Amino acid sequence: MINTCTVVLKYIRYTLCFCLLMNVVHAQVKEQGIIPQPYSIQKNGEVFRFSPAVAINIRDGISTDNLIFFNQYFHQLAGYNLSVKKTIAPSIQLSINSNKITEPEGYQLSIASKQINIIGHDQAGVFYGLQSLVQLLHKSNGKITVQGCTIEDHPRFAYRGMHLDVSRHFFKVNAIKKWIDLLALYKINTFHWHLTDDQGWRIEIKKYPLLQSISAYRDETIIGHKKDSPHRFDGKRYGGYYTQEEVKAVVKYAMERHISIIPEIEMPGHALAALAAYPELGCTGGPYKTATYWGIFDDVYCAGNEQTFTFLKNVLDEVLPLFPSKYIHIGGDECPKTKWKTCPKCQRRIKDEHLKDEHELQSYFIGRMEKYLNSKGRQIIGWDEILEGGLAPGATVMSWTGEEGGIAAAKLHHNAIMTPEKYVYLDYYQSLYPSEPLAGGGYTPLSKVYNYEPITKELSGDEAKYIKGVQANAWSEYLASMAQAEHQIFPRILALAEIGWTDKENKSYPNFLKRLRYEQPLLKQLNINLADTFDEITDSVMESADRQIQLALSSTLPGSQIYYTTDGTTPGLKSKKYDKPFLISTSGKIKAAVFSGTKQYGRVYEKDFHLHKAIGKTVTLTNQPQGGYNPGNTFGMVNGVFGSKLYNDGQWYGFNGDDLEAVVDLGKAQPVSQLGINILKYHWQKMWEPTLLTFEISTDGKNYTEVYRQTTFNDNGINAVRANIKTTQARYIRVKGTNKGIIPPGEYIAGAKAWLMVDEIVVK
Ligand code: ACM
Ligand code: ZN
Repeated sequence: MINTCTVVLKYIRYTLCFCLLMNVVHAQVKEQGIIPQPYSIQKNGEVFRFSPAVAINIRDGISTDNLIFFNQYFHQLAGYNLSVKKTIAPSIQLSINSNKITEPEGYQLSIASKQINIIGHDQAGVFYGLQSLVQLLHKSNGKITVQGCTIEDHPRFAYRGMHLDVSRHFFKVNAIKKWIDLLALYKINTFHWHLTDDQGWRIEIKKYPLLQSISAYRDETIIGHKKDSPHRFDGKRYGGYYTQEEVKAVVKYAMERHISIIPEIEMPGHALAALAAYPELGCTGGPYKTATYWGIFDDVYCAGNEQTFTFLKNVLDEVLPLFPSKYIHIGGDECPKTKWKTCPKCQRRIKDEHLKDEHELQSYFIGRMEKYLNSKGRQIIGWDEILEGGLAPGATVMSWTGEEGGIAAAKLHHNAIMTPEKYVYLDYYQSLYPSEPLAGGGYTPLSKVYNYEPITKELSGDEAKYIKGVQANAWSEYLASMAQAEHQIFPRILALAEIGWTDKENKSYPNFLKRLRYEQPLLKQLNINLADTFDEITDSVMESADRQIQLALSSTLPGSQIYYTTDGTTPGLKSKKYDKPFLISTSGKIKAAVFSGTKQYGRVYEKDFHLHKAIGKTVTLTNQPQGGYNPGNTFGMVNGVFGSKLYNDGQWYGFNGDDLEAVVDLGKAQPVSQLGINILKYHWQKMWEPTLLTFEISTDGKNYTEVYRQTTFNDNGINAVRANIKTTQARYIRVKGTNKGIIPPGEYIAGAKAWLMVDEIVVK
């Protein structure tokens, strides 16, 4: 008995010790990772242990600026500082050797038990080595350790940019500094500071005091989404601006962190705030008001008025000394030509300069400003519309409406930066869940940002060299505070960082997600309002072999299990376990949730299905849908899922300037009593209702009888047309929608082709 007891006790003690040991070992080998993924990592099994005795030894004229962020973070984590002194052990050795490390901004970081060694190609390289080290620091039982390894690393692109719009919402200097720290941590080296726009001018220009007293403020701000109709306002004066002293401090702060700030002074469009203060610079002379809602405004700088150029040159004369960057961004996007068309001064300019039209007038405008900036030793960057009417000689194109602008620029041997809205606009929705905070418009989930490849196959090797890099943009219409901005931007900015830094061959989305999960404690420690919903359910509505609807669900959460219900009840561990795509055979709501063990992760997924007689039937289109609104097949028109107000949800079919003509073949004649279609009307997004919608039916596919027509569609948003008709035998249903054609004057992007957006042809 005693013997057995002793054995059991010994066993318990042994197991306890083993477990503790295992814990220690586990803590030591805790997986870690770096974002962006380095070029190569070799682990060596050693461990470096930090203590107050560890010192940092800086050599080769390395600036102590490089240590600021590391020291700040280390102190926060450890509660003590590391001294800076000449020592060899145990220490962090920092040096520069551009013969050994040949790539600009590159570094080697080697970690052994007694020493951490960072060799940079340059100061930036040393800094980035330290940023990688920050991500490897591990705290356990109050002790800070790092796993031994050797990292060789350098960036793929020289330009790795992040943009922030401070016009629609204003972020104070301290918030901008925190922002800069985060860009630096993820090796983003350019901050594109969008300082002027219709809704507020945010930089002090001493020569023009009204920019501070009038342009920096708006009377009130729209509440909710700009698509909501009618617009509602908060009645509160809003604004602010950065003094030149503050700007200088921010630029210095950024330089210490190897970030170049490119200021954007918008022209000739997005100028309402400036015009509000100096109405003589507009074509009509005003009066104008700083905009209180979001969009594009017809009132722009007058291109025929010399005062416009004098004003902009004077503004730039004050901006340039504040920003040492090689590049100055002059905007150039979304400049309606409506006012120029009827302005005598603009028309005079077109005549005098022998310009073909208003597009060439825009090119003239940009060309003149480029010449001025070149004379001051700077280069211009502009949004892709600066290609309109001819590109200014040395301009760099920032390709945002798509990749075409960047491709065109590269083919003309101009530098380009890729920032296509479809992939890297972080003000877009990151999730299609209805409870997602209000966002700009489209849908760019983390995976879509991550998988963006800036070098498109249209470019030859030589042309590809003109793609200098990549940038993500954060427009702030719906980012009223830094906390909201962080939620919108993190973690997608980390995906952007990896596109910019990591070689294409070294990228892997599952591996990125794994590292992102390791990164979460660091982001929490840095007090970042990260959107941690990236492992929530995503779905795919598919066609089964016998043309029924199948729903596939997935989550990227490791070891997780999805449970779902088909009766509208909340899913739990006792609900159906998802193992493979399942058939949807009745109308209703599917709900699903992800569980890790017994713990639910994230929000409950929901999807409504509406079944009808045309499900899975053949649809023939006369004109093909285009661009981002071409789901690639016609199944989505008869899949029982209705396109949502998030128009980039993959359900909508968009016809750009073309009419809709679709024929559904039900396979055999059958009684039909209701015909329907959904139409998305968002004039603010160039999406217009048809001028005429008709339904026709036929039994032979040749002779059709019109059974319904409609010419007005009143709802702003989704117009669900449901036409009840006298029950009739029909096999073929023909739906025709006449496209609005050219967007009329006075409307958003007047003169452009309207999109006719349709989804789900409903037959009952
Ligand atoms: C832009 O998004 N208007 C550049
Ligand atoms: Zn004019």
